[in-house]
Amino acid sequence: MNGLRHLMSPMDFSVEELDAIFDVAFDIEAHLHDYKGALDTRILATCFYEPSTRTRLSFETAMLRLGGRVIGFADASSSSAAKGESVADTIRTIACFADICAMRHPKEGAPMVASEVSPIPVINAGDGGHHHPTQTLTDLLTIRALKGSLSSFTIGLCGDLKFGRTVHSLIHALTRYDNIRFVFISPAELVVPDYITELLDEKNIPYEATRRLDDAIPDLDFLYMTRVQRERFFNEEDYIRLKDYYILDRKKLSRAKSDMYILHPLPRVNEIAVDVDEDPRAAYFRQVQYGMYVRMALILTLLGETKAGINRGLLIR
Ligand code: NCD
Repeated sequence: MNGLRHLMSPMDFSVEELDAIFDVAFDIEAHLHDYKGALDTRILATCFYEPSTRTRLSFETAMLRLGGRVIGFADASSSSAAKGESVADTIRTIACFADICAMRHPKEGAPMVASEVSPIPVINAGDGGHHHPTQTLTDLLTIRALKGSLSSFTIGLCGDLKFGRTVHSLIHALTRYDNIRFVFISPAELVVPDYITELLDEKNIPYEATRRLDDAIPDLDFLYMTRVQRERFFNEEDYIRLKDYYILDRKKLSRAKSDMYILHPLPRVNEIAVDVDEDPRAAYFRQVQYGMYVRMALILTLLGETKAGINRGLLIR
């Protein structure tokens, strides 16, 4: 891969480029120790203006496992944003210190603004209710690992399809693969935004929408559960009314195919009962593990550090 690249949306990479990243991620999974010095001397900055456990720690662990180092902040109140500094000035400053930056921000488009002035690669680690491309890389890698391919399946997305950025990014990404059918399962207040159904209509991709998880579940190959995004609600009463709308429990799961996998970007609140975790179809903690491998592969790719992969016979474009 040549030149400065950023990752704002999963569509920023071609399907072939994504495949190359996934090949590296699988190689990392199989030969983790071979990558331990790959980014010796390089520094990742994690600039998180919004809460996170998995995404930030996954980026940081990914960099540490590649032999690199990490700087950053986990909370806007401990950065100069609290003094009124713009995102553009912050990234110009960060770029004096670090080689690559992962940024999460509550405002849609903030990482994009940063990327426009940044001399180092910027990765969108989630911008408001908009996109979350590295969660999507995680989801795609997990699907490929579980199913062996990224085509020919029915996926149900359940919960907060209105504000859930992981849902928006994943649907976009899946429109480029063959023979995928979507089932959107949500209350009327949390349906998928129009710009997404318009995109599906344009591309002639089949989808249906329902409120009833029970009715939808028997047909699914993947069920992607999501949390109701409390922080994006305008009023607490609506949140309280909708937060426990779906709870996947063993009884509901008994209607699913024996090889249907359950995914969830996490954090979980109540939407999956904990006794479901023991079910072999529950894949959400494996998904977290794949998130680290794919972020390792992504950081290597964006830094043009192809050595580790090429030494193992893999080509990163
Ligand atoms: C998601 C997010 O932040 O959008 N979490 C994550 O990064 N794995 C989902 C969520 O917060 O519900």
